[in-house]
Amino acid sequence: MGSNQEYILGVNQTELERLEFQHKVWKNVTDDFFRRINIQKGWKCLDVGAGPGFVSLELRILTGESGEVTALEPSEFYLDHLKAHCTKNNINNIKFIHGNLEDAAIENEYYDFIFLRWVIDFVPEPEKFLLKLLGILKKGGLIAIQDYAYEGIALFPKGGAFDNIAEAVKSYWKAGGGDPYFTVKLPSIFEKNNIELVEYKPVSLAGNKDSGVIEWAHRFFTVHLQLMADKKIISQMEADEFLDDWLRHRHEPDTMFFSPVVVDITGKKS
Ligand SMILES: C[S@@+](CC[C@H](N)C(=O)[O-])C[C@H]1O[C@@H](n2cnc3c(N)ncnc32)[C@H](O)[C@@H]1O
Repeated sequence: MGSNQEYILGVNQTELERLEFQHKVWKNVTDDFFRRINIQKGWKCLDVGAGPGFVSLELRILTGESGEVTALEPSEFYLDHLKAHCTKNNINNIKFIHGNLEDAAIENEYYDFIFLRWVIDFVPEPEKFLLKLLGILKKGGLIAIQDYAYEGIALFPKGGAFDNIAEAVKSYWKAGGGDPYFTVKLPSIFEKNNIELVEYKPVSLAGNKDSGVIEWAHRFFTVHLQLMADKKIISQMEADEFLDDWLRHRHEPDTMFFSPVVVDITGKKS
């Protein structure tokens, strides 16, 4: 990363598959956000921290043949996955930038639309990161951010170790230099920088044992609780207790899971 800090969630095949499943579960939320933004044909779009490019591929359809989508991503593994998909499917209007945003040389005021999903809460200097993005956004252009305000996560019936999960996950984000509440600071940072706040909309998903959202959480916690213990962010005993409580609930008919809040934020550069 720009600050030499390692990206906390890591890059590997299991994480790629988790991101792909995550995209399926949250796709409607992102699609609704794009509908409200009213993305136009011909726009030049930047997908920052694109991962394997699931959103870049959606943006490409919305901006059409006359548009341009750039996927910026530091992981070569994720970018190669997207490049292979584009080659296989004859997709020619996606450009690629390999590297961290902090290090990328991008023309000032180039993009009509900049999008980031689950990126800005993870970077070590998010305000500086945002200011760079505002510089490469055209006057009149839109920046749209989807990220956590890490509140609201809950597993019902309550009463077990999982009731304290939010603190553990926030510590995980912070261990990578991230800020699980950066979205909360965005309205005032926008105001300071003459960015009009067009929308600020919190969204949460909830579901029972058969829902996509509980399976999404399952794929995160069954892998990342152990990584949190390995990185000494929580103790092995805490990881085991969280996981036991989770697994006890996972297939019960009275279980309900609530995701943490994700905020859809749009700003317009005047
Ligand atoms: C949780 S993933 C989200 C991927 C994608 N945006 C999505 O919604 O499917 C976060 C991504 O941000 C990328 N990333 C981390 N630090 C970054 C940085 N400094 N500049 C640009 N991208 C970064 C990671 O490599 C990873 O692909």
